[in-house]
Amino acid sequence: MSRTYALECNQKIGKKVQLWGWINTVRDHGKITFYDLRDLTGIVQTVSRNKHKITEEDVVSIKGIVKKRPDRLINPLLKTGKVEVEIESIQIISKANTLPFPIDTDGLEIDESLRLKYRYLDLRRERLKNNLRLRQQMLSFMRQFLTESGFIEIETPILTKATPEGARDFLVPSRLQKGKFYALPQSPQQYKQLLMVAGFEKYFQIARCFRDEDPRSDRAYGEFTQLDVEMSYVTQDDILELTERLFKELTEKIFKKKVLKYPFPRITHKEAIKKYGSDKFDMRIKKDPNVLSFAFVVDFPLFEKTKNQPISPSHHPFTAPKDDYVHLLESDPMKVLSWQHDLVCNGLEVGGGSIRIIDAEIQKKVFKILGYSSREIETKFGHLLKSFGWGVPPHGGIAPGIERIMMAATGEENTREVTAFPMASSGQTSVMDAPSAIDDGSLKELKLKTI
Ligand code: AMO
Repeated sequence: MSRTYALECNQKIGKKVQLWGWINTVRDHGKITFYDLRDLTGIVQTVSRNKHKITEEDVVSIKGIVKKRPDRLINPLLKTGKVEVEIESIQIISKANTLPFPIDTDGLEIDESLRLKYRYLDLRRERLKNNLRLRQQMLSFMRQFLTESGFIEIETPILTKATPEGARDFLVPSRLQKGKFYALPQSPQQYKQLLMVAGFEKYFQIARCFRDEDPRSDRAYGEFTQLDVEMSYVTQDDILELTERLFKELTEKIFKKKVLKYPFPRITHKEAIKKYGSDKFDMRIKKDPNVLSFAFVVDFPLFEKTKNQPISPSHHPFTAPKDDYVHLLESDPMKVLSWQHDLVCNGLEVGGGSIRIIDAEIQKKVFKILGYSSREIETKFGHLLKSFGWGVPPHGGIAPGIERIMMAATGEENTREVTAFPMASSGQTSVMDAPSAIDDGSLKELKLKTI
């Protein structure tokens, strides 16, 4: 007999069906017992006159007849609330132990390390299921939108050379070239620029990025995902227009919400700081959950002072200075404005990008200002500078952060709530015990010693 899903029972009144799924709840009413069965489509009530040794979360297969419920027993809260399945036979496929925590709540009250240790059970809860479904619908929409706009999706390497985005790198030792290391990409920044040199003109990738930096609620430790986009022969306006069209449609079609203002307001970095005291601001007057308040921030300074560095890039070292300021690069670098643009939404920085430097001399100048020696420039970025010698189109792009957009869309307060298997802020992976020690044999093979 072929499988019937819970939701399909609505169309099968009077028919015999076979259901497969988990026992969501058991309610013993003496003469009869109700077993709510849960599968990927939802929950359906099943009922038996016999007693079964069945407990919550057991995986079962049920054969029975779909019956219409009498009017007074209809459950309006359930999509299948007008029907129930009268059990003819029930088979336990797999018994479940008592769960380490409840899964019928939103889960935020439970110790997070316990939730992450048993993430596969935590993910059984409705809230996380809905978040991951919405995330998939969003990614699918983005893919379709960009493909239809003539973009090509290209995967770039994970085992690669460092690309600075302001965090520490994750390093992977090489077995074939002893004593050497790959770096995991902090973003595909250099590869997407090389793809512009290669002539693809319109590129995107749903890209994993790896950054070893202090986590915050909106900053995942370890890895996160970007919608990475790059285009050739464009101005900043072109990039912002594409971005705002994509996000307006996404908001309306997938999130079923409204954007506060369209076109998205554009505000200079200076104005943002003056008006909101921050370059990631919220323009909503009251925190209306059905409205996403997108805006662009432009005219950032090219460089900034940080806690550890007297001068570092506001964005990354590939961002182009505005033409009128190029002459100030060496004499007064902190005055130079750039072609950086950030996308903000409901108080979060949900994306960043820029027009890029395509003049190898200006690029070298920027690296020098940042403190790189000529030798370092050659070994770290020689490949990119060299590529500019064979006809490089003017180009630029943006990379919206998938988790942050999800946070804005769902109101979740942490990237972990919109990620299937996130890392704890301690750097501990969920479920699997990583990082973990490796055996002496592997160390020997890699010619590594731990101290
Ligand atoms: P940037 O470093 O600004 O730019 O990153 C782009 C966007 O990615 C998101 N993001 C994060 N989300 C979750 N956890 C993190 N640790 C994290 N770090 C960043 C943010 C951010 O706006 N290569 C450039 C893009 C470009 O220039 O085109 C880049 O990576 O939403």
